[in-house]
Amino acid sequence: MVADTVSAVAPARPQIRIQGVVKSYAGRVVVNIDDTVLGASPIEGLIGPNGAGKTTLMRLIMHSTALDRGTISLLPPTGGEVVLSSQSSNRMAHHGVVKSNQVIMDFDRLTVLDSLLLAAAEGTYEQPHRIFSEKTVYRRHKDEIRHYLDFFGFADPTAFALSAGEKKLLDIVRCLLLKPTFLLLDEPTAGLPEDLTDKVMVVVRELAAAGTSVVIVEHDLNVIWNLCDEVLFMAEGSVILRGDPQSIRSHRTVVEKYLGEGHV
Ligand SMILES: Nc1ncnc2c1ncn2[C@@H]1O[C@H](COP(=O)(O)OP(=O)(O)OP(=O)(O)O)[C@@H](O)[C@H]1O
Ligand SMILES: [Mg+2]
Repeated sequence: MVADTVSAVAPARPQIRIQGVVKSYAGRVVVNIDDTVLGASPIEGLIGPNGAGKTTLMRLIMHSTALDRGTISLLPPTGGEVVLSSQSSNRMAHHGVVKSNQVIMDFDRLTVLDSLLLAAAEGTYEQPHRIFSEKTVYRRHKDEIRHYLDFFGFADPTAFALSAGEKKLLDIVRCLLLKPTFLLLDEPTAGLPEDLTDKVMVVVRELAAAGTSVVIVEHDLNVIWNLCDEVLFMAEGSVILRGDPQSIRSHRTVVEKYLGEGHV
């Protein structure tokens, strides 16, 4: 792992520190975060109204959207500090930082199996396109891929993922194959039926129990209240509250700005 600077105390699990981060579109500030740490708890929920800046924040962490200013760093448990905001976006998986997508646009021309082989190769090799056709990738990863496909009930791995739900699950399996140490999930269960939502929660819990830090954005608040150790509330570009699920759920500001009166 590349250490750009050395920090004094290493956290127990990977954390991401966001300092002085500002992002504007057409002169309108959409993310403005003074100093926030993600990953202090194993599974953190990031909630807030539409347009609060949740997806943009995740894209800024992945460096798939450029910051206007500020610094985003990964603090690995092994010590040191990786300044993510000075890395190119395709280096993130090498540092263990992986994100699922709110809107899935990939996979249209690849079968279920081929897209997952590509993901497995991306996690392992520097130039995945050069070894994509090699049988070694398949041999090395086939058991793991089969395990996840069976778990999520994909009938035929040589078929194309058709529904939005299948693409969503495929994207989650892609993330798992990349062996994240810090996983960002942007609405992973949106559009999924209850049984598959439960399965996504199972894999997230397993991952967190094995030491991965998980941050999950969801509007399905049952997922947030059931899954998360801590919840961060974002509004108008800033994280304005954080706390345990029960305290966030009943907080006046969260009710006023997001949940609405009558929410239980
Ligand atoms: N590429 C872009 N160009 C212009 N404006 C953008 C762009 N991406 C996001 N925005 C704006 O930034 C604001 C924050 O958007 P973002 O997608 O981060 O919100 P969100 O909290 O993820 O919302 P949702 O819960 O609906 O997914 C919104 O007002 C959005 O319109
Ligand atoms: Mg979003």
